[in-house]
Amino acid sequence: MTDRIRIFDTTLRDGEQAPGFSMTVDAKLRMAKALAALQVDVIEAGFAAASPGDAQAVATVARNVEGPTIASLARAHEGDIRAAAEALKDAANKRIHVFIGTSPIHREFKLKLSREQVLEKIRTSVALAREFADDVEFSAEDAIRTERDYLAEALSIAAAAGATTLNVPDTVGYTTPDEIFDLFTFLGTAVDKGEDVIFSAHNHDDLGLAVANSLAAIRAGARQVECAVHGIGERAGNASLESLVMALRTRSDHYGVDTAIDATKIMAASRTLAQATNHQPARNKPIVGANAFAHEAGIHQHGILQNRATYEIMKPEDIGLSTDGIVMGKHSGRHALASRAKALGFPLEGEKLDKAFAEFKTVADEIGVVDTARLLALLEGLESRR
Ligand code: KIV
Ligand code: ZN
Repeated sequence: MTDRIRIFDTTLRDGEQAPGFSMTVDAKLRMAKALAALQVDVIEAGFAAASPGDAQAVATVARNVEGPTIASLARAHEGDIRAAAEALKDAANKRIHVFIGTSPIHREFKLKLSREQVLEKIRTSVALAREFADDVEFSAEDAIRTERDYLAEALSIAAAAGATTLNVPDTVGYTTPDEIFDLFTFLGTAVDKGEDVIFSAHNHDDLGLAVANSLAAIRAGARQVECAVHGIGERAGNASLESLVMALRTRSDHYGVDTAIDATKIMAASRTLAQATNHQPARNKPIVGANAFAHEAGIHQHGILQNRATYEIMKPEDIGLSTDGIVMGKHSGRHALASRAKALGFPLEGEKLDKAFAEFKTVADEIGVVDTARLLALLEGLESRR
């Protein structure tokens, strides 16, 4: 089994599907180029049958983005599969991603199909998709709430019909790391598939466990994970790409697998997404949030100034960020003030430092974060009063 984890990015499909994150075709193309620079393996560019705009976005990405495989989602319907194939026709490498709900609640209430009818749809739709693409992914929607033996049967049928990736989505973000580990371990022996067919995990974040669940699935044999930049996606979102990639890299001692991602492009992809969707990630968002490499507390700043590893487990430059990590605010200490003032051309010591520090604390109490412009004004004011 290969130690390489494929990154299937669904920022432009599951991500874009979420309220507040819709993107124009131009914005999708910019984002797709950022994802290609990041070296994701697959870009799910949209759901071609969903709307003419989505079909156009998939076709535009397929035509203009080199490197990753370009995928379109399709229900297990002939019309959807033909729409996906048409939108993907100019892609150098294409994937048709066919899905159908397999859980009892989806079969009974959404699809109104029997167990056998669902299996038959899997058989015929995957086989049809294979007529248009060598690379076909099958997703058993709501796999986590599907009877295990039936899920294994559904995935075996998909593999026999030609699916090359078998995706096991936690559509409603219900599972836990222990449970998904057990499930993937079970599927590893219960599904009848060829050596080259890989398992994939697609986790939603309703309980805040999407990344943890994806990591557990990898430990149990999944060799593709589906994720989105900033973790955008239906409801609480998908597993976040940046967290998954950096967890695998930072804890390679534990996981022993890696992705092909160029992590130094993570900040660029994050900024492109923020611009494309008009939403900045939360300040405390792991990896890419404004606070992810920022230190305001005096004790932390003192440590960081000696050696960043005292309070950081990753280097900002590893994700393409350039920062000294020091945020000047009311919790900052004298070491940080002296260091920042020196960098700004105001070496401070003894009484001079005492005065500056007292004034700095007063300002910080008033305004919170003292940015470079405000700090410069304070230092210049002190200098002119001497
Ligand atoms: O969450 C889900 O089940 C999906 C599938 C279409 C893969 O997004
Ligand atoms: Zn999803």
